[in-house]
Amino acid sequence: MSQQKSAVTDAANDTVTLVDNATGRSCELPVMHGTIGPKVFDIGKLYAQTGMFTFDPGYTSTGSCKSSITYIDGEEGILLHRGYPIDELAENSDFLEVCYLLLNGELPSRAEKAKFEKQITYHTMVHEQLINFFRGFRRDAHPMAIMCGVVGALSAFYHDSTDIRDPRQRIVASHRLIAKMPTIAAMAYKYSVGQPFIYPRNDLSYAENFLHMTFAVPAEEYKINPVLSRAMDRIFILHADHEQNASTSTVRMAGSSGANPFACIAAGIASLWGPAHGGANEAVLNMLEEIGSKDRVGEYIKRAKDKDDPFRLMGFGHRVYKNYDPRAKVMRQTCHEVLAELGVEDEPLLELAMELERIALEDEYFVEKKLYPNVDFYSGIILRAMGFPTSMFTVLFAVARTVGWVAQWKEMIEDPTQKIGRPRQLYVGPAKRSFTPLDQRG
Ligand code: CMC
Repeated sequence: MSQQKSAVTDAANDTVTLVDNATGRSCELPVMHGTIGPKVFDIGKLYAQTGMFTFDPGYTSTGSCKSSITYIDGEEGILLHRGYPIDELAENSDFLEVCYLLLNGELPSRAEKAKFEKQITYHTMVHEQLINFFRGFRRDAHPMAIMCGVVGALSAFYHDSTDIRDPRQRIVASHRLIAKMPTIAAMAYKYSVGQPFIYPRNDLSYAENFLHMTFAVPAEEYKINPVLSRAMDRIFILHADHEQNASTSTVRMAGSSGANPFACIAAGIASLWGPAHGGANEAVLNMLEEIGSKDRVGEYIKRAKDKDDPFRLMGFGHRVYKNYDPRAKVMRQTCHEVLAELGVEDEPLLELAMELERIALEDEYFVEKKLYPNVDFYSGIILRAMGFPTSMFTVLFAVARTVGWVAQWKEMIEDPTQKIGRPRQLYVGPAKRSFTPLDQRG
């Protein structure tokens, strides 16, 4: 007999009553309100009261935690960090200030900002022995594979910041991760092109230092272009945090068992790598190169709409945004600024991307499914113009997202109600049966 549930909201009591129509058992569940955004009902007691679990494999209707860091209104295309709109932060702030905001909840005063910058730059170097890890990788290793390994290895180097119950150690681990990530990312690049590693320079800003470690060589002076360093900083801001996405949820899940922070962030990097998530920026550029010219756009739009073809328009669509991704708007503008600065405004890939966007936004399939360009659609074009190989795109995403991962991890550890994450399942395998000895099997 099939079991049915019906849900009734009791506005007066602010509860939802679930009734199992098959057994008549019911359960009253409390409704919870956030500052803004949809209400949720708390199903924590559901199993105890009804003997049933809920089923939501892709978490399309499930809130996994309370958080006061980032808010997204996907219908309206709004992204707020600690209440501040992303476009205002991208316009007026810098990456380290946004890091402070995400970690501490408020924008810093001038003195707090200076102190924070000093705390981060103090940790930019990595243990010299960590270099041995790079040498163990093949030269053609994907830099994201190197990132997973080397960031995980940090836990073997910084023992004085792995006790997660100590608030001071949690902060030191957070600062170390934010500070060392650009150094490790630049080293992954240098290793792949066979150039010497460049040590960090603490007189430079976060973005400038990263560009310097990536593109400078000992043989000559490297002049930092302020338009490019500003664009790099903005790309970091736009990727800093994004609520409970796959990699952040991975970091929280890994951290919920009490695992050390460096290992948790390595888990986040692994999750980010996939093409449905952070790997999309690399996939967008590969797709644009494959399309090649404007006259083939129609063919690829047709393929994206074909259910029998696995091809998807990379850089389009989002689980939460059913409107233009607010980060994509800033990214599009930054793309034009960078290409103008480099004198390549007529970059064919940009023209192709704009044509693809124009056609997709008018197409009934994309309109009906509310598929808009996301943050990754334009970032690859900027990064390529700046000189990054496509394999580094997701690495840059990881550098920027580290602060989000760390802030969310800290928030979870500091929540007194925190428990190990342990979902249940709908078992569809064989029911209990007796073992058949080998000589009796058919
Ligand atoms: N091209 C063509 N069709 C699409 C696309 C796309 N890019 N995205 C979604 N659809 C269709 C999909 O086939 C489905 O159709 P139907 O309802 O007929 O089966 C419908 O739209 C809903 O898609 P979904 O896969 O159920 O939605 P989701 O929320 O599970 O997936 C997504 C979200 C981002 C994984 C997906 O839109 C996608 O694969 N996009 C391309 C990859 C990409 O750009 N990822 C970067 C996301 S932003 C950065 C980040 O989060 O890291």
